[in-house]
Amino acid sequence: MDDKNISQAVVARLPRYYRYLGDLRDSGIERISSQDLSKLMKVTASQIRQDFNNFGGFGQQGYGYNVEYLYNEIARILGLNEKHNLIIVGAGNLGQALANYMNFERRGFIVKGIFDNDPDLYGKELRGIHVQPVENIEQFIKENDIDIAVLTIPKNGAVKTAELLVRCNIKAIWNFAHVDLNLPDHIAVENVHLSDSLMKLSYSIVNGNR
Ligand code: NAI
Repeated sequence: MDDKNISQAVVARLPRYYRYLGDLRDSGIERISSQDLSKLMKVTASQIRQDFNNFGGFGQQGYGYNVEYLYNEIARILGLNEKHNLIIVGAGNLGQALANYMNFERRGFIVKGIFDNDPDLYGKELRGIHVQPVENIEQFIKENDIDIAVLTIPKNGAVKTAELLVRCNIKAIWNFAHVDLNLPDHIAVENVHLSDSLMKLSYSIVNGNR
């Protein structure tokens, strides 16, 4: 099967496989059976086999999975063997926290620019990058081969800003603003709502499911 035809449900599970395989690889483990991976990840072995069958299986009867190979294949499928330049729009608490988080770079996500509309923040330095006025976004995207914009602004400005980013040919938006952006289909949008996780925790607490 072509990587493009993998279902979104499978794609959504790949980052977790990737993390576990990365940890196994870092601990020097060369191969693992679907049963052992199943125990480790608390996912059924048949789910693992089904997921990996979507892109060729990777496993060998009686041998299991080659950890390094599987790790690299999942990285390739997720596009992690390419660098993705990104900008952050909104240099408040959340934008600054993301800008200061170094680990994205290890995965190939490179913060290239940070933008805000508050003049008090212009020039503020975050890991060597100076906050710029939003008016510079268009030029900056053109000149710096930016794939992804991270939206960390309040929801009232988010739709307009997203539309501007689309006009600048951005490929993807990582949207933290609490609003649906309704952009053309060719723009990938990943909405993040941390409070959804908290609400799930709340459900578990009140239902005694800890
Ligand atoms: P903040 O108030 O510290 O930062 C927002 C920044 O955006 C400010 O620096 C402001 O000047 C700037 N800004 C506002 N409108 C703008 C525009 N049109 N263009 C460029 N910059 C603009 O807020 P914080 O805590 O950083 O949160 C940012 C947003 O993310 C909030 O709307 C909040 O609701 C949301 N949020 C979402 C979370 C999630 O899980 N999705 C978690 C936390 C916050």
